Amino acid sequence: MSTQTPTLTDRLSRPIHDLRVSVTDRCNFRCVYCMPKDVFDKQYKFLPRKELLSFEEIERVVKAFAEQGVTKIRLTGGEPLVRTDLEHLIEKVAAVEGIRDVSLTTNASLMTLKRARSLKDAGLKRVNVSLDAMDDETFMKVNDVGVSVQTVLDGIEAAAAVSFDAIKINMVVKKGLNDHSVLPMARFFHGTGQILRFIEFMDVGNVNAWDLSHVLTVSQIAELINAELPIEPVEANYRGEVAKRWQYKDGGGEIGIISSVSQPFCGDCSRARLSAIGGLYTCLFATDGHDLRALLRDEDPAKSSDEALREKIRAIWSVREDRYSETRSQVSVIRPKVEMSFIGG
Ligand code: GTP
Ligand code: 5AD
Ligand code: SF4
Ligand code: SF4
Repeated sequence: MSTQTPTLTDRLSRPIHDLRVSVTDRCNFRCVYCMPKDVFDKQYKFLPRKELLSFEEIERVVKAFAEQGVTKIRLTGGEPLVRTDLEHLIEKVAAVEGIRDVSLTTNASLMTLKRARSLKDAGLKRVNVSLDAMDDETFMKVNDVGVSVQTVLDGIEAAAAVSFDAIKINMVVKKGLNDHSVLPMARFFHGTGQILRFIEFMDVGNVNAWDLSHVLTVSQIAELINAELPIEPVEANYRGEVAKRWQYKDGGGEIGIISSVSQPFCGDCSRARLSAIGGLYTCLFATDGHDLRALLRDEDPAKSSDEALREKIRAIWSVREDRYSETRSQVSVIRPKVEMSFIGG
């Protein structure tokens, strides 16, 4: 029997619709804005395997969220494809009643045709691929592990070959690092049917030395593209969509710009985040998570029941007031934030 209850809303009347699940804190890249090598070096202590939620535990959490209004699951990392047998998790999550969309955010370096097929067969619907430049010199400067642009393009091609419902390309734009790649990226993906999205460099985590002067804003990016490839705005697909949409006037398809810094979108934020060790975060910029793993692993069956899990999620979401991006300029006390590679963006 279904235990569907009315969709949960927070203190600012925002419903819960999406859950982003980080399946690992590890990644085979060392993007300078996310996992800089001087911090994520050989000494860095990644989470030991036994600390991670098992697939069964993640499935339980997803069920509890689905019963309270979540319909979309996004799997992230670190790099989610480094987690062994991810397909098995996808099968479980895709089968949960109420879940309509299972998607993946990946750097695509491990996306072979075989892998793409098995992910699709397991129930994965959509894939978002991170790619920050079209030339190797810049891209290798960003990923810092010598992976070529062609490797990622091969991954994208593999994903395209198995016909996922959508493939989006995410480019984080950091002034002075890769802003000269905005137009080459636009030219390359124009007409491919893959939606290129430019992301304003964000002040997530504590290690990327973020500064407002590094941000190319949504209007600057749009102007740059419009000057060569004319674009016009398009309505959002749904309330709370992260990217603002444009389409090329010549019919070359669609682009998006994620404007978390210059035009925040907290007012419609319907996303919860689950870390690989079961911490529930109600904002990308949160300092602490709420420990769901302790509840899941409690030896007292009453304390670890499905009902207790639902109740804990309800208690957390119903008092949520986060809107970090809208208030960032007023926040005078600098507090530590969770790292992007830990919470999955
Ligand atoms: P779609 O379902 O395809 O629209 O995916 P998405 O854009 O929500 O997910 P993706 O993992 O591709 O994220 C793209 C960028 O948007 C990343 O830089 C994320 O960190 C950022 N992003 C996603 N959700 C939020 C959010 O709630 N707040 C902020 N500030 N940034 C977000
Ligand atoms: N600002 C904006 N986007 C970021 N990402 C990682 N770090 C940052 C940052 N500081 C992006 C990744 C990926 C997505 C999940 O988040 O490139 O596309
Ligand atoms: Fe890995 Fe993505 Fe972070 Fe780059 S941005 S280090 S690919 S998790
Ligand atoms: Fe949501 Fe926090 Fe991002 Fe605002 S800053 S959109 S509240 S995750």
